[in-house]
Amino acid sequence: MTSELITNIGELTCVDAEARVLTDAAVVVEDGRIAWIGAAAEAPSADTVTDAEGRAALPGWVDSHTHLVFDGDRSAEFEARMAGESYAAGGIGVTMEATRSASDERLRELVRGRVADAVAGGTTTIETKTGYGLSVEEETRHARLLAGLRDAGEIDAVTFLGAHLVPPGREAEDYLDDVVGPMLRAVAADADWIDVFCDRGAFDAEQTRRVLAAGRDTGLGVRLHGNQLEAGPGVSLAVEFGAASVDHVNFLTDDDVDALAGTWAGWDRRTAAGTPGVVAGCLPACDLSTRAPLAPARRLLDAGVEVALASNCNPGTSYTTSQAFNVAIAVLQMHLTLAEAVRAATMGSAIALRRQDEVGSIEVGKRADLHVLDAPAAIHLAYRPGMPLTHAVWRAGERVV
Ligand code: NIG
Repeated sequence: MTSELITNIGELTCVDAEARVLTDAAVVVEDGRIAWIGAAAEAPSADTVTDAEGRAALPGWVDSHTHLVFDGDRSAEFEARMAGESYAAGGIGVTMEATRSASDERLRELVRGRVADAVAGGTTTIETKTGYGLSVEEETRHARLLAGLRDAGEIDAVTFLGAHLVPPGREAEDYLDDVVGPMLRAVAADADWIDVFCDRGAFDAEQTRRVLAAGRDTGLGVRLHGNQLEAGPGVSLAVEFGAASVDHVNFLTDDDVDALAGTWAGWDRRTAAGTPGVVAGCLPACDLSTRAPLAPARRLLDAGVEVALASNCNPGTSYTTSQAFNVAIAVLQMHLTLAEAVRAATMGSAIALRRQDEVGSIEVGKRADLHVLDAPAAIHLAYRPGMPLTHAVWRAGERVV
């Protein structure tokens, strides 16, 4: 057993049931888990000691929505968007071409580089998706590559997103026969989740239902992209299928908000106990990069919905893994308090991945994922947006930054 005392923490944001924010605090980490939390003056001894020198600490970020397996460059598309073009799902096909021609080694190194960027910014739990292969052979290759990284502990969850777009040259129903048949069979052992892009230009309600039902029947957890480009059936399908999350949620009707709120009736938000409902995954960096209306996170929280903040890192709509950036936008523009934004980017995202018993807060017994800021208080995340505030990161008790 090895233990480490991280002491002299100026402000410790626990994101626990009491939403504790301790001053002059310390944490003891033992064999990768949090073993003790309390006042620095009362801390037990440990094998090694790290002095945080009065800095603020919080749980490592949890990023519940990324698309990291891609090659190619779409900066020209972004530039055109900034000049007035609007985002369309069809850009996914451009990335598909570039990604299909990349070797396994190249794709693995690209994913690793993006994960390293995320970790450098304080992310300690990360989900990522397939979705730029869009053929049986390529989706299988990408899922296998991601499963290898997950099994080596480099990422945390793998999502199969064969239903990201109908690839150029194929008919939707014929392509979906592949998705729910040979593709799903081939990726089932490698994926944890199934996802569908249910929106204008991608998949409609019936097509989405078909894919989600097949994934669920194969034993995968269900999540989906919905209500990104217009109000539509994404949220109601997420509720119908008991999805862990519906992500984007830019265009919501009153009925959508009520339906999401209704899924949280069996959940105690304070203690994070009970049966979780459908998390609303808000992706502020994506909203800015597509000039979309920001997802109504304030309204969702007020209605009793758990909100997650995630990066949606992908080459089309959100080329960033910075959860600190998302927290800053959530406070500055979405009207969340700092505590709400930090919770959404840690515990909220953990619930979206159904990993809330393991990560997302600093509590005794949880994985020791800590993020120490080069600042005396976590409010600096919003007060000094865009600044490199990550000082140190521990993942499962190991110092990784
Ligand atoms: O989450 N909405 C669908 N998928 C991505 C965009 C993918 C792309 O354009 O390459 C997203 O925004």
